[in-house]
Amino acid sequence: MYQCFNNDIQPGCLDKSPFQFGHRLMGHPALELGNLATALPALGERVMYSKGLSSLGANLDRAHLDDQNGLSIEETIEQIRTTQSYIAVRGPEHHPSFKDLHRVMCEDIAQLMRANGTGQLPENAEMWLFIASPGAITPFHFDRFSNFLLQFRGSKEVAVFEPWNDEVITPLQYEAYTARNDRQMDWADEKDRFAHKFHFHPGQAIHIPFLGGHYVKNGPGDVSISMAIFYDTDETRRFKQALVINDLIRRRAARFGWQPNPVNSPGSLDGLKSGLYPVVKGAAGLKGRILRLARPAASAHAAGGLWLHGAELMAESEPLLLGGLRMMGAA
Ligand SMILES: [Fe+2]
Repeated sequence: MYQCFNNDIQPGCLDKSPFQFGHRLMGHPALELGNLATALPALGERVMYSKGLSSLGANLDRAHLDDQNGLSIEETIEQIRTTQSYIAVRGPEHHPSFKDLHRVMCEDIAQLMRANGTGQLPENAEMWLFIASPGAITPFHFDRFSNFLLQFRGSKEVAVFEPWNDEVITPLQYEAYTARNDRQMDWADEKDRFAHKFHFHPGQAIHIPFLGGHYVKNGPGDVSISMAIFYDTDETRRFKQALVINDLIRRRAARFGWQPNPVNSPGSLDGLKSGLYPVVKGAAGLKGRILRLARPAASAHAAGGLWLHGAELMAESEPLLLGGLRMMGAA
């Protein structure tokens, strides 16, 4: 028995195919507009907002920087029905009103992972809130995590693509977008023939598999409020590490005539590439700490986060990379 999800959920399809099911969280006080009006201003820089986007090919990662709506967050919430705006909140569980929700979602996901044999607990689980004006579009992209999306208000069409389809997202795009060296996803209408399209209403949830591209078109009738939880499993973390290392190899080693096999393809040695990631990240972090001791201000950029970005890896890791490549024979 799940606390947040209905029993029509399909554990066997996790990270393989998208599917729709029911959720039990309608009426949860954290998602009421009154609570959102209090919680969002308190979450500070975790709240990003922009004009409502109108193109499936827009750059979602930079919308809050490039497409500002000229309003404060309070004005944006108050006028969301008419201002064609889009609000994304990263990590609402940092507000006390969402803490318990985050805990029970993680418990449900842990139960699902045990049911399909992908692990015991979700890693790096983080909630997102999305509040959008009627008619707003979320451009085509993928999330770099496994994802459950839950609808609370308004209706929308959600198009989701199965992962690892080269005709939708190429191996190079998977690598560059995961490594954040390229934040713009290509969209072309002919990809739509591969979409699973869901008509999404309050009380429903959708599983978006890891690396599954997707876009969203909000309905014209009402403001949309939805919540997602992103998380890693052991498998998705290893794929992500291999994708970042592949991006690094492709950019750094091209001049030597080497090109790596795509991740999740025969002979790609994903386990070895994934194993190389913490070594490279550790070396980059060590260099960053030494630089900070010597030149604190100049080296502030070298601080490593949860995921080391591709550009930082490229700057720090060439000797290790070349040694690793020779060891693996992967290039
Ligand atoms: Fe997404």
